[in-house]
Amino acid sequence: MIEIAHQAREKAYCPYSHFAVGAVLVSRAGHIYTGANVENASYGLTVCAERAAIIKAVNAGDLELEAICLAGSDKGYTYPCGACLQVMAEFAPHLKVIVTDSSGNYREHQLKDLLPFQFQLDLEE
Ligand code: THU
Repeated sequence: MIEIAHQAREKAYCPYSHFAVGAVLVSRAGHIYTGANVENASYGLTVCAERAAIIKAVNAGDLELEAICLAGSDKGYTYPCGACLQVMAEFAPHLKVIVTDSSGNYREHQLKDLLPFQFQLDLEE
């Protein structure tokens, strides 16, 4: 996963921040979805690598997500932003989140530890 996340990072479109991020998502069925950040001149429209990968999986109808691995451009570990954590929580509250640094080291976390109080909308049917 680490290698694939680093490969995915090469596809980033980040002319504004020059901070490329790659993500790889694995589903329970064993399918793999990659993503990289896509920036926009209107900065707020930027799509993060994790969300790009999650949207691919959801559009493929593959909703049972097991783990996501992230590779950023810092020497140190790149962690998912808050918005991406909330999008992960929508589809996979028990997702494993793997973060890497530039030396090939990694850390494993549970989404629940990174976002312990997830926003949930309980609509009455
Ligand atoms: N970025 C991601 O792709 N994922 C994150 O979780 C945090 C930030 C991207 C967005 C932007 O293109 C660049 O990193 C710098 O913020």
